[in-house]
Amino acid sequence: MSRQRPAAADEGPIVPPTTAGLAALEAEAARRVAEAGDLAALAEVEAELVGRRSRLNAWKRMLGGLDETTRRNLGEAMNETRRRIEAGLAARRATLETVARGRVLEADRLDLTEVLAVPGPGHLHPVTQVREELEDIFLGMGYEIAEGPEVETDWYNFTALNMPPDHPARSGQDSFYLDVGDGESVLLRTHTSPVQIRLLERGELPIYAVIPGLVYRRDTPDASHLPIFHQIEGLVVDRGVTFGDLAGTIGSFTRAIFGADVSARLRPGYFPFTEPSAEFDISCTICKGAGCRTCSGVGFIELGGCGMVHPAVLESAGVDPEAWSGFAFGFGIDRVTIMRHGIEDIRSFLENDVRFLSAF
Ligand code: DAH
Repeated sequence: MSRQRPAAADEGPIVPPTTAGLAALEAEAARRVAEAGDLAALAEVEAELVGRRSRLNAWKRMLGGLDETTRRNLGEAMNETRRRIEAGLAARRATLETVARGRVLEADRLDLTEVLAVPGPGHLHPVTQVREELEDIFLGMGYEIAEGPEVETDWYNFTALNMPPDHPARSGQDSFYLDVGDGESVLLRTHTSPVQIRLLERGELPIYAVIPGLVYRRDTPDASHLPIFHQIEGLVVDRGVTFGDLAGTIGSFTRAIFGADVSARLRPGYFPFTEPSAEFDISCTICKGAGCRTCSGVGFIELGGCGMVHPAVLESAGVDPEAWSGFAFGFGIDRVTIMRHGIEDIRSFLENDVRFLSAF
């Protein structure tokens, strides 16, 4: 079946162009080129304007039938028109290519700010990690985990712990008082020891408990002090508890925390709420007791305080010291974390520097 040659882009009889016809074609071409919104649309417009089936081509084919002068003049005018239309197409193509490249770049853009702000899955703060590890160790020894309020009354923080109002030991724990109640009667707890009283007051004996939590002191921050830090308190009250039980317990949990090659020692100390009282040290984790810069050549590092619960403390919580005895201990969780990782400045814990925190 014979097929008719497809008609030129714009239908209608093909007659030789006039100067006005060429100008009209050029104007129409300029409009359509400007209207092409992307490279695909522009390619279609280009085929129609200067392609094989374009009106310009159809006109060119007709030149052969014209006289020589007309052919030369018209041929030149048509070439000029084609050249200008092609220049317009090229300019529009350059613009559309720039737009298209911009779109690709925008789609592929890497938002580095976002990448920095979210460096991957987070994890617990190093101090929280050690706190949870300590809780696990004591849970494994049969202790319960208890908590108490961070805002305390003078009674729980001091008086019930055998520190009456004029007791000199109070001044060693510079307190943040709250503007609540009478005078200096409500404060941010300076240690976790007041929770001993709250546990004793429950009246459920025996007690085997550890109490982790935040404590507050009016200290100027430096490499080894923060005004807010973590302690963990231990309290055991049962029948016939002895100092030997305390010493054995301290030996067990320090080995569990620092490793089997670490040894603990007790030195005489003083705390109003224990009698006798002791400070406990562990052999230096760096030099294993030989003496180095970290332990100032002593071979041991101080960790916390402990002792047998003072009868006055049991009495102030309504527990009969004739029937029950117990021991208590307390030490800093931040300090354990520092010793564990060899961290030089305790203030790093509060700076929220992702580079520091991500190391743990
Ligand atoms: N509360 C003491 C402090 O913050 C630490 C302490 C010492 C706790 C001896 C105790 C203890 O339970 O028996 O310095």
